[in-house]
Amino acid sequence: FAFTPANLAWADAQITKYPEGRQASAIIPLLWRAQEQEGWLTRPAIEHVADKLGMAYIRALEVATFYFMFQLQPVGSVAHIQVCGTTSCMICGAEDLIGVCKEKIAEKPHQLSADGKFSWEEVECLGACANAPMAQIGKDYYEDLTAKSMAQILDMLAKGDVPTPGSQNGRYAAEPR
Ligand code: FES
Repeated sequence: FAFTPANLAWADAQITKYPEGRQASAIIPLLWRAQEQEGWLTRPAIEHVADKLGMAYIRALEVATFYFMFQLQPVGSVAHIQVCGTTSCMICGAEDLIGVCKEKIAEKPHQLSADGKFSWEEVECLGACANAPMAQIGKDYYEDLTAKSMAQILDMLAKGDVPTPGSQNGRYAAEPR
């Protein structure tokens, strides 16, 4: 792994934001950019970032494993679905959403679908509890989900369509894009 020239320039710019000797503070943005480049964080990518910041690989790995926005295994080429399983979402039907993911994607979290297009996992609270249950798909939040709307969203994504993010029952309209 190596950053593309554009990403390398971006990474260098991030590092200059921190005082001399504190380059390691740029770990999260650099890991994020590496993930954006590769789709997920491979070991060589984490090593590359650690080397760039003068950190031990294990310290970079500690950060990468702490935050669930970092993916340490391959994710679906079309979408990785993160279903919130914390209290509000659990009470309001997260299990139903997970059931759809198991049926349509793969039985186990982090497993790729047969066509490699999708993967899923259960995550902790994503801060949209008022519109539970919800899931993050790519960078968008889909809220007030039901098993039916979840299945429809996955079907749309599989066809190459882009479902409208935000509340799926109109409780709060998504911001216009
Ligand atoms: Fe699901 Fe907070 S409990 S978003």
